Amino acid sequence: MGSSTPVAAQVSRFYESHPYPPPVDDLDAYRKSWDDRRRRAESHLFWPAEPYRDDRSILVAGCGTTQAAHYALRWPRARVLGIDVSATSIAFTQELKQQYALDNLEVRQLPLEHAAELGETFEHVVCTGVLHHLPDPDAGLRALRDVLAPAGALHVMVYAPYGRAGIYMLQDYCRRLAIGHTDADIRDLAESLKALPLDHPLAPLLRNSPDFTTSAGLADALLHPRDRSYSVPQLVEFLDRAGLEFGRWLRQAPYLPWCGALASAPHHSKLIELTAEEQYAAIELFRGTMLRHSVVAYRKDRLAQNSSVDFEGDAWLRYTPVHLPGTIVVRDRLPPGATAVLINRNHTYTDLYLPIDDRQERLLEKIDGKRTIAEICGQRGERSLARDFFRQLWQWDQIVLDTSAAVVSS
Ligand SMILES: C[S@@+](CC[C@H](N)C(=O)[O-])C[C@H]1O[C@@H](n2cnc3c(N)ncnc32)[C@H](O)[C@@H]1O
Repeated sequence: MGSSTPVAAQVSRFYESHPYPPPVDDLDAYRKSWDDRRRRAESHLFWPAEPYRDDRSILVAGCGTTQAAHYALRWPRARVLGIDVSATSIAFTQELKQQYALDNLEVRQLPLEHAAELGETFEHVVCTGVLHHLPDPDAGLRALRDVLAPAGALHVMVYAPYGRAGIYMLQDYCRRLAIGHTDADIRDLAESLKALPLDHPLAPLLRNSPDFTTSAGLADALLHPRDRSYSVPQLVEFLDRAGLEFGRWLRQAPYLPWCGALASAPHHSKLIELTAEEQYAAIELFRGTMLRHSVVAYRKDRLAQNSSVDFEGDAWLRYTPVHLPGTIVVRDRLPPGATAVLINRNHTYTDLYLPIDDRQERLLEKIDGKRTIAEICGQRGERSLARDFFRQLWQWDQIVLDTSAAVVSS
C-alpha cells in the first residue's frame, strides 16, 4: 500500500496520535437506541427485496475506535469483523469488546487494501470516512468489492467537494504555516479560528458541525495529511471502476427534485427530464453545501433480486412500508391545509419538511411494518392517492419498503 511514502507514514502516525472518532467508553445509550423495528428498517434500506434478516456477516473496514463495536451492538445476531491500520483504534475497539462482552465481534489490524487476506466474503461491507484518505482509493474500493458477497450491499461514505470548500482553504492555510499535529498546534489553531471572518466559507461548519468541537475532530478535518473528495459524477465513476453500481443514497431526499424547495421551483420540470444520476449531480451543485455522500452500492454482477423500488405497474401494492427511525410528526406552525408536517431529523436541510392532510394522515397511521400498501389503503378509490403518498414518503426518507412479497409473486 505504498507505506514507504512519506504521506502514508504521516497518515498512519496521524491516526495513532489522533484516533477518530474520539474514543468513548459508554455505549449504553447507543445499544438502547437499536430495537427490532430499527433493525428491520435498516435491513430493508439495504435489501428491499429480501425478507428481513439480522444475521448477516459484516465487515467494518477502517473501523476507527468505535464503529465495529457499534455494529456488533446493533446487530447482536450478526458476525462483525472490524479492521483498521491503527493499533490505537484496534486497542480501543478491543476494550469495548470486553466491556460489552461482544462475542460476535472480531477485530484485526489490517489495511483494507489487503482484505482478500481475510479469505472470506461478507454480506454487508461498511466503509465510512476512510477511502478518501487512501493513497489509491480505487485499489481500496476494489479490495472491498472483492470481499463483498454476490448478494451483498456496500455502504460507503466519502467526502463531497463543494460543502468542504472552506475546509480545503484552511487545510492549505495550515500547510503554508507548517502547522503540526501536537496538542499545542491544535490548541493554537482552535484559538486562531476564533478570529476567522464570520462570512468565511468555513464559518457555518465551525458553528454547526459537532466535528469541530473536539481537538480530534478539528485535527481530522483541518490537519489531515491526505484528503480528497468526490462530486456525484466522480463518485458514480469511482464505483463503476471498482465493478460496483449505485444503489441508493442512504438518505435520498436531499438529492431528489421532488423533495424540498426545488419541487416548486421553475426548474423542477427541467430537472425531472434528466436521468437520475444527472439529477443528483445538478442538485449537489444547486444545494452547494453537501459535505459528504453516503451511498449504498451493489456488485455489478450481483446475484440478488432486483433492489429497485417501482411505483409504476401494480407491484407497489404488495410492498410493506416500514417507518425509518428519526422521523417525526410536527403539528405547530403548519402551512395552510396541512394537518401535520413530516420531518426526518437526520436531514440537515431545512426545506425538507413534508406537509400532509387528514386523508394522508389516516394512511400514515396505518403503517405498522406488517400491512402491505394494498391492505392499508383498502378500497380501490384510495389507490391513486395511496400510490402518490407512499412514493412521497419513500422519497422523503420517511419509510423504507419491504418489496420481498412483490418480488416473490411477480
Ligand atoms: C476518519 S476515521 C473513520 C472511522 C470509522 N470508519 C467511522 O466512521 O467512525 C478513518 C479510519 O480509517 C483508518 N484507516 C486509514 N487508512 C486505512 C487503511 N488503509 N486500511 C484500514 N483502515 C485505515 C484510520 O486508522 C482511521 O481509524
